[in-house]
Amino acid sequence: MADAVGNINAHNYHLDVPPADTGFFVKGMGNTDWGLKNRLSRIFDPKSGNTVMLAFDHGYFMGATAGLERMDVTIAPLCEYADVLMGTRGAIRSCIPPTTSKAVCLRATHDTSVLFEDLSTGSGLALDFEDAIRMNASGLAIQCFVGGSGEAASLEALCRAADQGYKFGIPVLGVTAVGKEMARTNRYFTLATRILAELGANFVKTYYCEDFETVVAACPVPIVIAGGKKLPEDEALEMAYKAIQSGARGVDMGRNVFQSEHPVEMLQAIRKVVHEGFTGKEAFEFFTDAIN
Ligand code: 5RP
Repeated sequence: MADAVGNINAHNYHLDVPPADTGFFVKGMGNTDWGLKNRLSRIFDPKSGNTVMLAFDHGYFMGATAGLERMDVTIAPLCEYADVLMGTRGAIRSCIPPTTSKAVCLRATHDTSVLFEDLSTGSGLALDFEDAIRMNASGLAIQCFVGGSGEAASLEALCRAADQGYKFGIPVLGVTAVGKEMARTNRYFTLATRILAELGANFVKTYYCEDFETVVAACPVPIVIAGGKKLPEDEALEMAYKAIQSGARGVDMGRNVFQSEHPVEMLQAIRKVVHEGFTGKEAFEFFTDAIN
């Protein structure tokens, strides 16, 4: 069996070489089917190549977390400022008007709730593909616990979702979940994102970390970053900027948007970074102008 770590000194991410051109604007997706490409083009803007996903799926394991107590009140008005709505089928069916033209990325796995000590048990698929198609999903998010107690179960869910995703042309988002005890290091995210891509994820969500460009380089499909816990707006915008500068193709942010006192302006500022090349500082200036 190959060694688990390899000779770290020998790693070469070829940061000066752009990803291979596979004939389609989404990294690594040139050899997929028309339907999958069409749905990917609803997620990633063909002009910028990037995406602003609004994550409000937290209730599937956290319940009514701050800012999501009434999603019809807090989330529905934000939808027009996002490219992709990422939530559970329960949240989207009950709280988001079906007249929305935004792409939907359904949270498609269930896990243990916050009542359990071990959040990384990774349980399995939470819906079948017929329902995903019924909901016109453009993507399915699968939570994976690489290194956690639920690694095998969650990677099995990812593999089965990728099988079905290729069958029906629905892209799968592999989510690198971090349980309470799991390290948020470059080494961990490089390993986890690569495993999810190799097992069939069409795009991968992870957290921003040091030397993020090596995480991006080693992952053969696009990476989007989660926001994590609420930060001051200037810090969250700077993180988004650094991620995009490092090659991320967008964000899938939740708490840094819906827990902001000015969520519309925050989402608009994030768009400036992701789609218009603003720096974090420029986007924060836009944000402060917009709220005053
Ligand atoms: C949890 C998720 C959440 O959608 C993700 O954490 C995004 O939300 P936030 O920006 O609040 O972290 O996938 O694994």
